[in-house]
Amino acid sequence: MPKLGIVLAIGILLTLVNTSLCDKRLNRQKRFIEMADDVRGPYCETKSGGPCCPGRDDQCTVPILDSICYCDMFCNITASDCCPDFKRICIGGNPEPITRGCRVNGIEYRVGSVFKNNCNQCTCRRNPSNPNQAELRCTDEVCLVQPDMIQLVNNGNYGWKAANYSFFWGKTLNDGVKYRLGTMPPSDQVLNMNPIIMDSVDQPPESFDSRQKWPNYIHPVRDQGDCAASWAFSTAGKL
Ligand SMILES: *[C@@H]1O[C@H](CO)[C@@H](O)[C@H](O)[C@H]1NC(C)=O
Ligand SMILES: *[C@@H]1O[C@H](CO)[C@@H](O)[C@H](O)[C@H]1NC(C)=O
Repeated sequence: MPKLGIVLAIGILLTLVNTSLCDKRLNRQKRFIEMADDVRGPYCETKSGGPCCPGRDDQCTVPILDSICYCDMFCNITASDCCPDFKRICIGGNPEPITRGCRVNGIEYRVGSVFKNNCNQCTCRRNPSNPNQAELRCTDEVCLVQPDMIQLVNNGNYGWKAANYSFFWGKTLNDGVKYRLGTMPPSDQVLNMNPIIMDSVDQPPESFDSRQKWPNYIHPVRDQGDCAASWAFSTAGKL
């Protein structure tokens, strides 16, 4: 009887030790999941003393970022504290799924990358509520060149075609107003002016094309650059 008691006591003690070890590993596991998506590279594959350990071996680890990952067969049961290359190296399956990046206009961006999408700054980051998913965050500026708008103009019959002028690409509409128009808001005095109604003597012509009327005085469209003085530029151009 006392013998059985001792065996039971040892059994319980072992179970407790085992459980606390497990808890420790579960904690590690959680921590590892949080960083599992952007850690590529050989781990078990280049471990000193051989890549994989049979059974459970809590010393069978490789450093990963500021933590460790496991290359023992037991990590197959706890599932997510294995090193990213454990399955490929020790079992021969497909590598652990790694969170894919963010796909924008057919281009794949890795988690952690910061890039420009036209005039907006974007970050591809890990979804805080689901670490296995990537999430795209972008600023929400209205861009000066809008592919949809170009399409819309070109689908209509407006007598002119829109195009993507590459030097406007990546600028915001606000940039365009600020650097290209430069128009000051009219003063109160101007806003309070009354219209003058005139009886026109002559009927205005059906159409008028200054290129035909003054063929020697019309030059091609000039670029004012970021001069922000279209009002002066266009007026001076007429003189
Ligand atoms: C690892 O786990 C997978 C899925 O649970 C199982 O199919 C496979 O047999 C296990 N491999 C080993 C070596 O334990
Ligand atoms: C517009 O031009 C810029 C610069 O050449 C280019 O990067 C961009 O992809 C173009 N956008 C479209 C919708 O064609």
